[in-house]
Amino acid sequence: MSREDDKARMTQLVALLNQYNHEYHVLDQPTVSDAEYDRLYRELQRLEAASPELRRPDTPTLRVGAAPLPSFASVVHAVPMLSLNNAFSDMEQIDPAQRHAELFQFDERVRKTLGVERVRYAAEPKFDGLAISLLYRNGVFEQAATRGDGVSGENVTENVRTIRSLPLRLLGEQVPEVLEVRGEVLMLRDDFERLNQQQAAVGDKPFANPRNAAAGSLRQLDSRITASRRLSFFAYSVARVEGMARPGTHSAEMNWLASFGFPLAPADLRPVLEGIDAVAAFYEQIMERRAGLPYDIDGVVYKVDSRAEQDVLGFVSRAPRFAIAHKFPAEEATTLVEAIEAQVGRTGAITPVARLKPVFVGGVTVTNATLHNEDEVVRKDVRVGDTVVVRRAGDVIPEVVSVVLEKRPMKEVAGADLFSAALEPVESPWRLPAQCPVCGSHVVKPEGEAIARCTGGLFCSAQRKQAVIHFASRRAMDIEGLGEKLVDQLVELGWVKSLVDLYRLKVEDLAGMERMGDKSARNLVDAIEASKNTTLPRFLFGLGIRNVGESTARDLARYFGDIRALFPVRNDGEDSDELALARLNDRLLAVPDVGPIVARSVMDFFCEPLNVAVVNDLIEAGVHWPAEAAPVVAADSPVAGKTFVLTGTLPTLGRDAAKALIEAAGGKVSGSVSGKTHFVVAGAEAGSKLEKAQALGVTILDEAALLALLG
Ligand code: IVH
Repeated sequence: MSREDDKARMTQLVALLNQYNHEYHVLDQPTVSDAEYDRLYRELQRLEAASPELRRPDTPTLRVGAAPLPSFASVVHAVPMLSLNNAFSDMEQIDPAQRHAELFQFDERVRKTLGVERVRYAAEPKFDGLAISLLYRNGVFEQAATRGDGVSGENVTENVRTIRSLPLRLLGEQVPEVLEVRGEVLMLRDDFERLNQQQAAVGDKPFANPRNAAAGSLRQLDSRITASRRLSFFAYSVARVEGMARPGTHSAEMNWLASFGFPLAPADLRPVLEGIDAVAAFYEQIMERRAGLPYDIDGVVYKVDSRAEQDVLGFVSRAPRFAIAHKFPAEEATTLVEAIEAQVGRTGAITPVARLKPVFVGGVTVTNATLHNEDEVVRKDVRVGDTVVVRRAGDVIPEVVSVVLEKRPMKEVAGADLFSAALEPVESPWRLPAQCPVCGSHVVKPEGEAIARCTGGLFCSAQRKQAVIHFASRRAMDIEGLGEKLVDQLVELGWVKSLVDLYRLKVEDLAGMERMGDKSARNLVDAIEASKNTTLPRFLFGLGIRNVGESTARDLARYFGDIRALFPVRNDGEDSDELALARLNDRLLAVPDVGPIVARSVMDFFCEPLNVAVVNDLIEAGVHWPAEAAPVVAADSPVAGKTFVLTGTLPTLGRDAAKALIEAAGGKVSGSVSGKTHFVVAGAEAGSKLEKAQALGVTILDEAALLALLG
């Protein structure tokens, strides 16, 4: 191909790729596959590598970033970048005119100056990002500058060029010679989450919010870093046009920008509204939608739509008189941590909660904020006495976002002298309590899980209601008539502190309760009495042991026979030795479908003497069940606790029969071979599982050897 051909092809590829890019990133309506895009992109890259001098200024290959700059150059704004005056609302007020008093005052001033009854306002979201000014010359993106002090900012052209949704060349045939567009650079919430996950993965500090992440990314001297950060841009005004007529209203001007390929807020977020009442209603509507938007907004901006009217209104000091930012209540504020407490939830989950010096945030006064779990407290290193950033977004529970480390109370290190003076924090890092703050049972945090839990499920008053409701439920002890509302009352009256108290309830007491007659009281006591006659699987399920559902309860009952076989502590309450625990663990793992997580939950439960005491109390109160058939597991069978994998066709035994025999002897059958497989039983036409077993050195049995092992 000739040089001219190459040049033409490059022009064509740049145009195509920019169009596809706009369809994908702005319109969200791709017309070609990613593979097709990549193919054209690589073709362009090859041509540019061969003839760098033909590289076009609007080529998408420049979006990947360029070599680092020593510093950002300064740019004087041809039209200063002003700010907006703010209006706040008091949402406690009922009357809209009072609730939005500052907004109504703004409208009144506008109407008075214009001498009109009613004004048309263009509304749009107030994006919570960074203002940027973009310069296009003859349709080609030339320069991007930050706001700076409004008069001059920093040249961040190479960084802004990496933003995928930004047009590098204006779409359409007719474009102005000069176009200066203003808008906001921000990071979408999803992109922010992803970035913070990446930061955490490499041990870097997470960003506190999308705005900080966007600011940090935009101010990178190495635009290749910016390119990896996924920023977005939304246009909100036109600052300068040369060589073409401008539309007469702000709303038309926005549509004009959209036709050039600029991303804007979706049309339903930027309506033109007639009069201030419609404006106030829109604000409340957006407030509701705020949490569901893909990006953070901190209010709504209203602009007088007519440009002629805008000109009449003009500017006051550094803000236009024709526009106002109607701010939402701030979602973040800083305050002091007075204490950190461990709260116990209905399921025993332990949540660290920061008690705060009261602070007004998100429209309400906040005194507590969740710290989610121990890992979060450690990661954020929140300590008593710290100044923290608190966030309350919408109806979400307030949370501690980060610590303002510069404000942490410090003291001199003991023993330090003049030469080695050093400071250390007054408070040490927060630790999860070893005992439940409510009931004193031990707290466990299973490996790999974020949530720590109190093990006193049956005893802990924080978990009492939940425990009783579950115990009485149909698939557990099936106590008819003992529903949630009644349990709430019984627990609140202090009549049911432990499950065994149910069996001590008297008709005459119950009959005195709200909405409970003699007859229902008698029926309830009868139902409770009848529940004493139960089965071991129901009873085990009713205890509400974590991860033990009905079917696991059935298996446990069948394999252990006697509930006492599950107690790792002796009846005198002394801890048994580690050996007994290890043995119990082995026996649990021998039960089909019981893996390490369930085994751990069962042991955690029965290791808590308070839980064992409740079980014993229940038995003493008369709860009983028919003896299960002799326990299936012979504790010392050579097969107990071993994992088998079956493959191929055995000569006489069907697969189900072989499985049943292995399980009856306390073994487990698994579907795939791994390092944890003890035996592979191979029959005719055994395939890859056999090969894998051989490779891993797993013992291989034929049917005869299996039967011999099973005795
Ligand atoms: S118009 C004359 N519209 O708010 C000022 N600004 O205080 C023209 N902002 O830093 C600004 N969303 O970056 C306008 N839809 C919007 C906006 C918006 C966010 C920011 C802007 C500036 C600040 C103005």
